[in-house]
Amino acid sequence: MSVSTTSAVKKSYDVEEIRAQFPILKELVHGKPLVYFDNAATSQKPRRVIKAESAYYATINANVHRGVHTLSTLATEAQEAAREAIRKHINAQHAHEVIFTSGTTASINLAAQSLGQLLLKKGDEVLISGMEHHANIVPWQLVCERYGAVLKVIPVTDSGELDLQLANELISQLASCRILAISHVSNTLGTTNPVKELIAEAKKRGIITLLDGAQAMPHMRVDVQDLDCELYAFSAHKCYGPTGIGVLYGREELLERMPPWQGGGEMIDVVTFEKTTYAKLPFKFEAGTPHIAGIIGLGEAFRWMNDYDLDAMAVHEHVLLEHATKELLAIDGLRIIGTANEKSRGDQFRH
Ligand SMILES: Cc1ncc(COP(=O)(O)O)c(C=O)c1O
Repeated sequence: MSVSTTSAVKKSYDVEEIRAQFPILKELVHGKPLVYFDNAATSQKPRRVIKAESAYYATINANVHRGVHTLSTLATEAQEAAREAIRKHINAQHAHEVIFTSGTTASINLAAQSLGQLLLKKGDEVLISGMEHHANIVPWQLVCERYGAVLKVIPVTDSGELDLQLANELISQLASCRILAISHVSNTLGTTNPVKELIAEAKKRGIITLLDGAQAMPHMRVDVQDLDCELYAFSAHKCYGPTGIGVLYGREELLERMPPWQGGGEMIDVVTFEKTTYAKLPFKFEAGTPHIAGIIGLGEAFRWMNDYDLDAMAVHEHVLLEHATKELLAIDGLRIIGTANEKSRGDQFRH
């Protein structure tokens, strides 16, 4: 198995050439060519990603960071090359700030459980918004209940946006808000939230910020240092990668302070029956054998995306959004829920 690297020269955005890379698009459904509109739930996979995953099983299958034998070394190298590909894509400072999880849901649960233990006490507040996916509501409810904290919600306007002024007021009024956890892009409304502004406001009050990037990552170039968030969660399967694998990015200083969530192999340094010390980042948060094939597939999906001119992809998405909006509005009685000015259509790539 060879690990491909991202080529410096971007391929032009040729829709037919790209479609040809997705084997599933050749399938017939009810005798008709497949038309797939459910990418927000999960995207289809290009051949390169499918091949990368199966090549791991066919050629280098072994556990990682454990054996000294050749296959284990190759598997470890392939896994860590994927971590580096993600680091580069999101502009994290260190590869050890990229923690592999089973997806956005697991990433947010890890963050909530660990931050809850680190920060929350009775009467503290956790702030989310009214447009969150259940994955960014329930984990916070669970920890708030456990530590006696209170969950507060930024309201959503009729057009499906967060009122920035109202949100900033709320942040400044809360007496002991510890965590702000909001979606970068809404899964139901398509709204791209003004996250940089909200993060800046939260920072003034020492509030830890987490972005649920499940719907943002496939549509825009996410730069975690530019966003200035402490934590960022996303899933591979919405970004042309495999299911069952995702990432929690965390800033080093915070991750060092956060206690581990799950215990087991790989996350330990020294174990005795009296006391256990934990492994360094990122392994402190990666208990047990990881989804190695999934991680390799995830790395390949991001390399594949980066081979293309993402600005051109953004323009194409924008044209499709405008066309679909116009045609849908021509249907008598149809009302579009979510008419925010900043809707996810990929043109953020240009920023
Ligand atoms: C905004 C958002 N957050 C979180 C999730 C959960 O992602 P996963 O099921 O991959 O953990 C989704 C999935 O649709 C989502 O759209």
